[in-house]
Amino acid sequence: MDLSEFDRERDALAVSLDDRGHLAVTIDRPDSLNAIDDAVREGVVDLLRSVDTERVRCVTFAGAGDRAFSAGADVDSVADRTPAEAMDVTPMYEVVADFPRPTLAAIRGYCLGGGHELALACDMRVAGTDAEFGFPEIGLGLVPGGGGTQRLVRLVGEGRAKELVFRGNRIDAERAADWGLVNRAVPPEELDEVVESYVDDLVTGPPLALKAAKRVVDAAEDSSLAAGMAMESQAFGFLTTTDDFAEGRAAFREDREPEFEGE
Ligand code: COA
Repeated sequence: MDLSEFDRERDALAVSLDDRGHLAVTIDRPDSLNAIDDAVREGVVDLLRSVDTERVRCVTFAGAGDRAFSAGADVDSVADRTPAEAMDVTPMYEVVADFPRPTLAAIRGYCLGGGHELALACDMRVAGTDAEFGFPEIGLGLVPGGGGTQRLVRLVGEGRAKELVFRGNRIDAERAADWGLVNRAVPPEELDEVVESYVDDLVTGPPLALKAAKRVVDAAEDSSLAAGMAMESQAFGFLTTTDDFAEGRAAFREDREPEFEGE
């Protein structure tokens, strides 16, 4: 896919794909604190559905500027929808959650509402200590509508999820890390470096094993232990037959870094 063409067509997103397979997606609406409007939603869906996944090894999501990852759904775009349209939750969150490569949200500033839900749909979250997390929907007479209530409960438990959703207050990045909402909270000036260290691990990791790991870990939440264990052992058995496993073994014996091809 020609990403420069994609960039030209969608001014709400800045997108790049480097030679290592790092697909970097930035919501590029800093004047609106990167509020998620239809152009962002459709852009993310089109991108992840059309990009050649063989060329992608990991995806990062960020917000342009240092004030916000995203302050949530664009309030005007929500108000403009009919109730029937609003009930059809955008596929964006599912498309992100189901993308077969690891995804990481790099969060600075406000991470609210639909922006928070986008971060929750990612596999991992790394935040600057200037980040703030919340679900302000209750103050608008709404509830989160992009999977926020469901994914939040799974991540932080019911009491903490209810606190965020019922009260509409924001919590800082340190509390978010303490609650397990984010993997790391780091000084803002170190965020890029920390994100790069995650990306480096992910783009050099074995693509088939990472794909299987994502599928199996995601299944754990909704499976019985027996079903999850069966899925895990099938993945394990399959992975022992891959070229990547042979390469991993050879690299270990030769005391060098492995070069995984995803085969
Ligand atoms: N949708 C549309 N525009 C938004 C927005 C959103 N969710 N969040 C912020 N903006 C816009 C503001 O309207 C403002 O635009 P303007 O400069 O043209 O007036 C700009 O972003 C900066 O926001 P501002 O409110 O001036 O910044 P602040 O630092 O005073 O407050 C927030 C920041 C995040 C607390 C505040 O903007 C806010 O509460 N936003 C709405 C959050 C929300 O309810 N999200 C869920 C929606 S369902």
